[in-house]
Amino acid sequence: MTGEVVIGGAKNSALPLVAATLLAETGRSRLENIPNLRDINTIIRLLEGMGAEIERSDGELQISTAAVSNCQAPYELVKTMRASILVLGPLLARFGEARVSLPGGCAIGARPVNLHIRGLEQMGAEIRVEHGYIIGRAKRLKGADISFDMTTVTGTENLMMAAVLAEGTTCLHNAAREPEIIDLAVFLRKMGAVIEGEGTQTIVITGVEKLSGADCQVMPDRIEAGTFMVAAGISDGDIIIKNAPLAALGSLTAKLHEIGVEIEPLVEFHEDELLTGIPVRVKRQASGLNSLDVKTMPYPGFPTDMQAQIMTLLALARGTSVISETIFENRFMHVFELQRMGADIEVEGRTAVVRGVEKLSGAPVMASDLRASAGLILAGLAADGETVMSRVYHLDRGYSGFEHKLKALGADIKRIKE
Ligand code: EPU
Repeated sequence: MTGEVVIGGAKNSALPLVAATLLAETGRSRLENIPNLRDINTIIRLLEGMGAEIERSDGELQISTAAVSNCQAPYELVKTMRASILVLGPLLARFGEARVSLPGGCAIGARPVNLHIRGLEQMGAEIRVEHGYIIGRAKRLKGADISFDMTTVTGTENLMMAAVLAEGTTCLHNAAREPEIIDLAVFLRKMGAVIEGEGTQTIVITGVEKLSGADCQVMPDRIEAGTFMVAAGISDGDIIIKNAPLAALGSLTAKLHEIGVEIEPLVEFHEDELLTGIPVRVKRQASGLNSLDVKTMPYPGFPTDMQAQIMTLLALARGTSVISETIFENRFMHVFELQRMGADIEVEGRTAVVRGVEKLSGAPVMASDLRASAGLILAGLAADGETVMSRVYHLDRGYSGFEHKLKALGADIKRIKE
């Protein structure tokens, strides 16, 4: 694979940013660099159902939530996208009421939302679960000292969005540190919020009376960039990623370096500019791929959203690698499909032992979730013969034009059915 690829806006940043527009009593928000994804369509439908006015054009959303009157997130939408839970905090904060379907289990794990609910209760909300819905009420939320029992990304985002309109100061301890949380804090501040400490484990938010719409630019998607880094490595490519948020990818690039895939920044690069995309060259070393161990962790550790992709790469490395998945209890569904392609992988609990093989062989495979589908496509790129992946709709939730971007880099890939 050779050539250049441009990374789209980050799905996991765009979703909370769209939810945050619900906090604006006045004005219109303009969100740029919005990726063209199924999950974005879902959150737009969700907000429109509440009464928001949304105009969409070429990577941009203009959103006015002044007329929102229906504080509901129906099961039909939440079941297709768990991140719909992100409307719970903003609705309670601005309207003092919310009726949000409780997300069910998920292909990668149970994924409860107890920490979101507990935090909102600590801020004074009354919450009950009835007929599959989370029903919340609050007069005005009150600032609170909240300590997360485990690191939760959307939980941190939900409580940040609740706290910006609460009375008094909220302190979130053991908060998630993902770059997407910084992107959200930057936007909330532009709307008029008072927040400090985003990107660290302690976020302090002082509530204000009212927020207004604002403009923002979604950061480039670090997982999409990481997936293209692995694609270059697995296909012995030499590619340029035009806008990789390199500073946000440290744990991945360190591992790729050890495996034998070099990432070279093409401009001066600052470790603290987590939201900025820069051009990088990705090239596999001539000496081939080395095995190593990987353990998924909350940011700044190795992202669980890159686990399937790196497993595919390690399936073709010299020697044995051990991959531990510590975030989700069932995120190894791709293993069984990779085995069908000739990979030598054994799973025990939350650990996968990957013994590198010389070649993978093309086979019909089935995607089980978003990142698994990326891992399987990468396997197909490296495999002998043809790989046909079904349930491609999982891919469309989080990768925009993935097959076109790969094709432009020289991959032999096409979509045969939606
Ligand atoms: N957890 C609880 N209780 C809670 C919340 C979380 O027990 O109230 C547990 C989860 O079950 C999980 C762990 O905490 O075991 C971490 O989950 P987290 O809440 O951080 O995940 P999330 O916020 O639901 C986001 C991303 C995921 C990504 C994870 C981990 C968004 C919209 N989603 O999910 O992205 O894998 O963080 O980094 O930001 C993807 O893009 O493919 C994807 C799944």
